[in-house]
Amino acid sequence: MDLGLAGKTALVTGGSSGIGAETARLLAEEGSDVVVAYHQNIAGAEHAADSVRQTGRRAWICQMDVTDDASVQQALTKLPQEAKQFDVLILCAGEAPVTPLTEVTSDQWKRIVDVNLHGAFHVLSAVQPLLNDGGAIVAVASVAGQTGVPHQSPYAAAKAGLINLTKSAARALAPRIRVNCVAPGMTLTPMGQETAAGLPPNYAQEKLLLQRFAEPREIAQCIVFLASPAASFVTGATLDVNGGRYLR
Ligand SMILES: NC(=O)c1ccc[n+]([C@@H]2O[C@H](COP(=O)([O-])OP(=O)(O)OC[C@H]3O[C@@H](n4cnc5c(N)ncnc54)[C@H](OP(=O)(O)O)[C@@H]3O)[C@@H](O)[C@H]2O)c1
Repeated sequence: MDLGLAGKTALVTGGSSGIGAETARLLAEEGSDVVVAYHQNIAGAEHAADSVRQTGRRAWICQMDVTDDASVQQALTKLPQEAKQFDVLILCAGEAPVTPLTEVTSDQWKRIVDVNLHGAFHVLSAVQPLLNDGGAIVAVASVAGQTGVPHQSPYAAAKAGLINLTKSAARALAPRIRVNCVAPGMTLTPMGQETAAGLPPNYAQEKLLLQRFAEPREIAQCIVFLASPAASFVTGATLDVNGGRYLR
């Protein structure tokens, strides 16, 4: 199936690592140029940009702290003219430290909600005017936002907010822009490995219908589908990509 992404331009936050880096690569394989946005991991961003260029597509890297509205605005201003107009925005930046709910401080709570929810709002608000008509936004939430988790409670609350923001944005930007969300389960990235380390050894076999954690590419494929014209009648949706961890 042709996803219809040839000749498009995408911006991927969280593009320096894990799911975001894989999404950048896959978008390029489908024919898109990609702006890889990163926070601190410039080597990861360069690596993701190189993987885009290896497909023959153009790539740029762009530093931003999504928690800081001014940083997001400044990063967009610094992009070259040919990378200032987009068809696709992927909101993938996130952070998920493991702390029991009873030990979370007020500052930790605010920081995690800042990265995972306010950050998505900052980028969505700044980039939506730069999206071409018919464009698409995909937010990366989490199954944690659907089930709640006792050891990542601010993260889960923020991701629940992101699922809801997806619906509000879909309503606000229709019919010009489609806005959707994926809700991944545990995925084998640096973040996922850290979370998995705190789980019982047989967790995947016992809790997931598919009895294993996801590879980043399996999440990226769903993100890229929702971002593509192949999903032209899908908006306001949350796609569960959790291997059967949570059924609704
Ligand atoms: N892995 C999982 O099991 C899993 C499950 C469900 C949902 N998710 C979601 O999937 C997304 C990607 O996660 P991942 O597993 O690929 O994690 P990851 O490998 O740790 O990557 C996280 C990305 O977020 C960026 N980031 C963090 N704080 C930022 C900030 N303040 N400003 C800008 N960028 C920031 C990081 O940038 P730098 O590295 O450049 O600093 C990095 O590119 C996240 O939204 C996460 O919540 C992951």
